[in-house]
Amino acid sequence: MTTGTVTLAPLQHADVPKCHEIELDLFPGEDPWSETAFHSELDRGNYYKGAYCDGELIGYAGLAASAYEASVHTIAVARPWQGKGVGKLLLRDLLARVDEINVPVFLEVRTDNEPAIAMYLAHGFERLGLRRRYYQPSGADAYTMGRPAHSV
Ligand SMILES: CC(C)(COP(=O)(O)OP(=O)(O)OC[C@H]1O[C@@H](n2cnc3c(N)ncnc32)[C@H](O)[C@@H]1OP(=O)(O)O)[C@@H](O)C(=O)NCCC(=O)NCCS
Repeated sequence: MTTGTVTLAPLQHADVPKCHEIELDLFPGEDPWSETAFHSELDRGNYYKGAYCDGELIGYAGLAASAYEASVHTIAVARPWQGKGVGKLLLRDLLARVDEINVPVFLEVRTDNEPAIAMYLAHGFERLGLRRRYYQPSGADAYTMGRPAHSV
């Protein structure tokens, strides 16, 4: 199950049920995104990539960008695939897009999400601030993190 080659491709509306399934597993107490939320992100033309192995969606990540800044809206890897480099692959793809348009990028991350924070710090992000009770219904706090334009 965890041996094939992982490829990235634009996320499709057909992937949305699987994204929602992964969300329910990963974010049970954090208001997981509905299928409607994913469809609307794609309809808005935001930049979304899926990670696939043997035709199966195993992760996804998405970004919204303006002429001035970008924001990582989501990044997630299905539990059996975590810790195998898929998250890095997705994040680097988003950052390549950010660097094409040469804008700073921001995100929020739970303060107790050590794997994600380590990944962001290793990719040029720094902690900028704290948003108390940002996540609902859990009430968990978030760090705001940012990466300046064209930092590599
Ligand atoms: C966070 C997440 C996307 C990372 O994806 P992943 O495929 O598991 O991560 P990777 O294997 O690509 O590792 C990327 C980096 O994350 C960090 N990392 C991953 N697992 C870690 C762990 N268990 N402990 C500490 N750091 C860890 C490391 O910095 C790692 O880089 P390295 O391998 O060079 O040391 C994934 O764990 C996930 O989906 N988590 C649940 C959803 C989530 O929290 N999303 C982020 C919301 S802001």
